[in-house]
Amino acid sequence: MKTFARWFLLPLGISFAFAVSAAKDPNEKAIESRQAVMKLQSWYAGPLFGMAKGDVEYDAEMAGNYARHLHIMATVDGGAMWPEGTDNVAYAGKTRALPEGWTNWEEAGKKAQALSEATAALAAVAGDGLDALRSKIGPVGKACKGCHDDFRAKKK
Ligand code: HEC
Repeated sequence: MKTFARWFLLPLGISFAFAVSAAKDPNEKAIESRQAVMKLQSWYAGPLFGMAKGDVEYDAEMAGNYARHLHIMATVDGGAMWPEGTDNVAYAGKTRALPEGWTNWEEAGKKAQALSEATAALAAVAGDGLDALRSKIGPVGKACKGCHDDFRAKKK
């Protein structure tokens, strides 16, 4: 009986531990949350880039509103969503964040700051006409790309 209980309960205990750890890995929650912030940045930035290019008709109200929200998304307190050890080596397949983001934390912070400044400048004028929007959108695109080039793995 003793042996049976041990053999029966051991694998049960192991699978239980796995189920609990898989459901509660706080790192995965952090990864999903930062990706959600990125998705929202993309949601707001998309039509603004589209207007600047002439693919989307300029709409002053929408431009001002989206630029304001893009700036909000660029400045959410997301630091804790980037815990150390959540790079694309440790969490292959779940994240595209390169380890350089942590070994070069200061530089990554500067890139985030650049986006914050660029979106602030855009938000200040985006509703004032297409030319005004165009005059400030370049640095926003550069800020997204500048960080992705250095700190995000290419899509496989
Ligand atoms: C400070 C660096 C940085 C800046 C600035 C930045 N990104 Fe990202 N972005 C990343 C990293 C790193 C990832 C990978 C995150 C992950 O997979 O965990 C990412 C991922 C993404 C993704 C994929 C999200 C997903 O669902 O996996 C999108 C979309 C995106 N970024 C859009 C943008 C847009 C649009 C901007 C500019 C408005 C921007 N990003 C600015 C670093 C940055």
